Order: sequence, then C-alpha cells, then structure tokens
Amino acid sequence: MRNSALSSHHQIIINLLSCFIFLQAGIIHVESKVPAVIVFGASMVDAGNNNPLPTISKCNFSPYGRDLEGGKATGRFSNGRIVTDFISQAFGNKPLVPAYLDSSYGIEDFATGVTFASGGTGFDNKTADVSSAIPLWKEVEYFKDYKIRLATLLGKKAAIKTIKEAVYIISLGTNDFLINYFGLPDRSLHFTLKEYENFLTGIANNFIVELYRLGARKISLGGLPPLGCLPIKRTLVAGHACNEEFNTAAKSFDMKLKSLAAKLSGELQGSKVVFSDIYHIVMDVIQKPSLYGFENVKNGCCGSGRFEVSYLCHRWNPLTCKDASKYAFWDAVHPSEKLHFIIANNMMKTSLTEFV
Ligand SMILES: *[C@@H]1O[C@H](CO)[C@@H](O)[C@H](O)[C@H]1NC(C)=O
Repeated sequence: MRNSALSSHHQIIINLLSCFIFLQAGIIHVESKVPAVIVFGASMVDAGNNNPLPTISKCNFSPYGRDLEGGKATGRFSNGRIVTDFISQAFGNKPLVPAYLDSSYGIEDFATGVTFASGGTGFDNKTADVSSAIPLWKEVEYFKDYKIRLATLLGKKAAIKTIKEAVYIISLGTNDFLINYFGLPDRSLHFTLKEYENFLTGIANNFIVELYRLGARKISLGGLPPLGCLPIKRTLVAGHACNEEFNTAAKSFDMKLKSLAAKLSGELQGSKVVFSDIYHIVMDVIQKPSLYGFENVKNGCCGSGRFEVSYLCHRWNPLTCKDASKYAFWDAVHPSEKLHFIIANNMMKTSLTEFV
C-alpha cells in the first residue's frame, strides 16, 4: 500500500517532470509560425555574399567577426552577429542567418533562413555597379533559385508554405544616398533629391510586388539610419556633429517608404507589409548613450573610428578599441553587435509584432 502510494507519488513527479521538460522544449524549439527569416538588402544584413566577389565592399578578414564564436570573419560587417541573426533567434529559429553564396552552407541550412544581401548595393542598379555589389534584381534571381532548391528539398507543397509563412526583412537605401547620390555627380545632376527619392521608392514598390508574386506575404521594409550621424559623415562636420542635411534626407525617404508599406499592405491581398523604423532607435542611442551602456557613439571601434570601413578596417590598426560593446558603431559606417541587437530588439517590439 505504502509502496504503491510512493510509486504513484513518484509517477506524478515523473509526469510533472516530463511535462516540465516538454514545456522547456516547447519554449526553446517553439513551433514557430515563422519557418524562416529571408533577407534582402545591403551591408547591414549581409552575412558574406560579397566574399567571392571582386569588390572592395568586403570584410571577411579580422578584426571583423572577432566577437563571433571562433572569432571568424564571415563577411558580416560587424564585430559579431547582425540584426537579422537576432531577429531569427527571436522568432525561435537559428542564431545565425547564413549567406546564400557561402559555400559552407547548403539548402538544408537555407531552408530555415537565408540572406541574399550584398554590402554596397542599393535600390538603384547604379549603386551596385559603383560598388561592384550584387544588384537588387539579382538578389531576386537568387531567391527564385532558392525556391526551386527548397521545393526539391521539402516537396512543392511544404516549400510554398515556407515561402508564404517566412518573414522577409528588407534593409537597403543607405548606399544610394551616401555612395551614389551625394557621392557621385551622375544621379545628382539628373535628379533633384525629391525626384531621386521617388525614383528609389518606385523601385522598392516593384521589388515588393515581385516578392509578393513569388509568394512572400510577411514583409518588413526597413528605413534608413540617421545617415548624418554615421561616424564617416561626422568626420567632415565641425566638432564632429551630425550632418543635418543627410539626416533630413533619411527622414524624408523614410516617410516615403512608410507610406509605400501602408499602400502595398492595402493593395496586395493577404499580405502584411510593415515599415521598420531604424532612425529613431539609433538616434535615441546616440542622444542617450549611457542609457544603453555605450561610452562612444561618435566613432567606430575600428581604427580611428572616423573613416575606416572594409579594407581600411584591418587587424594591423593599433587604434582599434578593446571592447566593442562600449561603442555604438563597429566601423565608420556599421553598427557594433550591441547596436545590432538593440535595433533587432526594437523591431521585434514594434513593426515585427505583426508577424509573431
Ligand atoms: C536594373 O537592371 C535590371 C537588369 O538589367 C533591369 O531589368 C531593371 O529594369 C533595372 N532597373 C531599373 C530601375 O532601371
């Protein structure tokens, strides 16, 4: 009697335990409504697609990636993980979203998340030309190729479901302004700033319609960071203040992307297109660094922090900071891992709640 009472007591504990383990497993491997995070864009969200390309927009060398596991320079423009890695993890998926052109990964890996992004690219074909990066239309071609491979791996029906339920993260535009419009004579000779913004917005529109046509439904269109506060832009301003002209351009373009997202959400049946604001969270960090644990928001960690990016940010630079987590920017253009995390976290709490 006693024995059986004890054993049933045990049984209850075992049941409770397995229940607990089951719950734990449920939390970790949450049956996510989001089977994959699929990424398009430029260097903020590139994880190494430029590595095999003859471009100077590259970073598959130290000290890039020095805070990743194994200190590996994967081609992420960061000391560690990037915004889309954190977003993937937040959706219950893998902690690193691999680059489609990284030959150390295969379709089994890409099936749960992939990035087609290429550092230096833009909405404008000409931006990609200048940087020798992958133009946006070609990112879409890679996506079409991905869909075919996914169908071979999962079967046609499951592949369509993955494509439909995946979250699409789009992040580009910075280079169209920094490198192209404000950096080179051609576009600025033929377009006013407003006209150029409209030109880019038209391309963004066609791009998202194309993604929709290819099966995408949950789409985040990312805005620009405060362009004038990027270390490389501060360098030329007295007292290293933010360049207000560039910030104004970023805000004005953001307004257009925001309206575009709302318009497309209405037009594309069964879709949700959200605008993800980057500007204000990055600005908040810049204005209240200590609130976020930053000591420096004006210079990149790498080198002098004023101009070093890509090949200029190299391991022999003795000025590179010791602890990148105290810096909002890793190099003169790109966020540190910690700022990437803050941006991802902010997106998960705002625009991306739509997709949870
Ligand atoms: C960009 O280039 C592709 C390929 O040549 C072309 O199909 C597309 O129309 C171009 N986009 C614009 C906006 O000119």
